[in-house]
Amino acid sequence: MSHSTTDKPLPLLSRKANGLAGRIRVPGDKSMSHRSLMFGAVATGETRITGLLEAEDVINTAKAMAALGANVLRDDHGVWHVMGVGVGGLTSPAQPLDFGNSGTGVRLAMGLMATTPLSARCIGDASLSRRPMGRVTRPLAQFGTRFETSEGDRLPLTIHGAADAKPVTYTLPVASAQVKSAVLLAGLNTPGTTTVIEPVPTRDHTERMLASFGARISVAAKDGVRHISIEGRHELKAQELAIPGDPSSAAFPMVAALITPGSEIVIENIMLNPTRTGLFVTLEEMGASITYENRRQAGGEDVADIRVRASRLKGVRVPKDRAPSMIDEYPVLAVAASFAEGTTRMEGLEELRVKESDRLAAVEAGLQANGVMTASGPDWLEVHGGGAPGGGTVVTHMDHRIAMSFLVMGMASRIHTGIDDSRFIATSFPGFTDLMNGMGGRIETK
Ligand code: S3P
Repeated sequence: MSHSTTDKPLPLLSRKANGLAGRIRVPGDKSMSHRSLMFGAVATGETRITGLLEAEDVINTAKAMAALGANVLRDDHGVWHVMGVGVGGLTSPAQPLDFGNSGTGVRLAMGLMATTPLSARCIGDASLSRRPMGRVTRPLAQFGTRFETSEGDRLPLTIHGAADAKPVTYTLPVASAQVKSAVLLAGLNTPGTTTVIEPVPTRDHTERMLASFGARISVAAKDGVRHISIEGRHELKAQELAIPGDPSSAAFPMVAALITPGSEIVIENIMLNPTRTGLFVTLEEMGASITYENRRQAGGEDVADIRVRASRLKGVRVPKDRAPSMIDEYPVLAVAASFAEGTTRMEGLEELRVKESDRLAAVEAGLQANGVMTASGPDWLEVHGGGAPGGGTVVTHMDHRIAMSFLVMGMASRIHTGIDDSRFIATSFPGFTDLMNGMGGRIETK
């Protein structure tokens, strides 16, 4: 990943704010943005995308799709145009594909390439190069795809797509939309029917968006377990897509407004897909004042403008089965929990260990550095509320969500909070600091 401004860490301080106010928009949904570029790349015709998240992770996906043969460009009105090559039409890139910090980018692209006879080297930054890829290479190998991986099934790796792929039926061993999606995308260019069995439901953007592109995809529930099947070797038709605001990005101003006394803000145009709204449910259980206004449809999803008022929160137990619908939101929930009355217990967190950082360890260290009492186990975290004294500098481990969460904490803590490096915020939420300061935040360079 290139950091255009500097290769040196950029520490920030976040000082106590008075009430936050304003109507804001957050950038487009990250999951939908990656998928819109990838599905557009293998459709026939020109896909047009508005509201694309223009952040480093997604730009890397756009570059990868271009390197694989699609024509990808952004016009002067901010509309992205993807001229697809058709199912099976991707070709070997001349250079390695650099996915930067993005697990979604590399894992979904591996699925997309897996059943087309091409070879590609996939690389990423130090954080991505530590993350497990075996969870994707193992099911893809069943199609006939070959991989040369680095030690421990990690990046850098080279993928050799299968020329005569065989369809696969695969039961997900982890609750991961990335693994589910990689297998379904490999099924796109595989003759016959590929099926993913999903014991624990995860975000369903791949299924919904592939259906809108005209894929022959179906979902059946058998004994409460989702079986998702895709019939391969059918063309996808280019689409016009309008990507709504990312609920995982909305989470940061939302928690900031809840914990900063006197705040009232509206976050416009937020996607409310039920596989993504676990945080909102949890915050409401904690006593948060959240109202959904102007409910409507955009990009095939329910969206609303969300009004948030500062609230007295109380600790809750967050059940394990809610984890997939809020997996990226635990760091900022932990911040909300530190301002609640009583203890919040979060369970089913094993996947947090393999995100952009070991988020369970990074969150707990950040809380403790700011005077918050915690307890944890391999897959759970308890946060003792009552307010965060602050005063600590948090190590962000190349993780955008750790960085943003602890800047939010500083807005309501007694003493400012600091983070060691803010550069990775640009992977998902460009303009974060200005947006927060525009509502009354006091985030400053150190
Ligand atoms: C994503 C799936 C999740 C999530 C990530 C985006 C996706 O990862 O953490 O930010 O777009 O499919 P896992 O599939 O590893 O749970």
